[in-house]
Amino acid sequence: VDGGELYKKRCANCHRDGTESSPSGGGAVLKGQSAKEIEMKLTGYQNGTYGGAKKKTMERMVSKFTADDIKALADYIGSL
Ligand code: HEM
Repeated sequence: VDGGELYKKRCANCHRDGTESSPSGGGAVLKGQSAKEIEMKLTGYQNGTYGGAKKKTMERMVSKFTADDIKALADYIGSL
């Protein structure tokens, strides 16, 4: 899985290049967070252990991702 490609297709629409908060309201800036943190948060959106007021948006985003997809995305975001 190419995390960079996946990010451009599925995430950049809202999170842009990772340096801004999501235009749809809320969400911390992604750049600067470690791969481990991002992996924990994305997994948390899948199993209901993480999220803020807008978590429904992210729960929908990650519901179909495999653990490999999430790892690839986390590694990519951690490298921003
Ligand atoms: C939150 C990643 C797609 C809107 C987050 C957070 C991460 C993340 C890691 C948690 C930030 C934090 O609390 O530190 C991703 C990835 C995506 C993706 C990897 C692609 C698979 C999207 C899309 C949208 C979006 C397409 C808009 C439709 C939001 C919002 C939040 C958020 C609103 C805050 C949710 C909350 O209240 O918990 N995202 N995102 N994201 N993202 Fe995304």
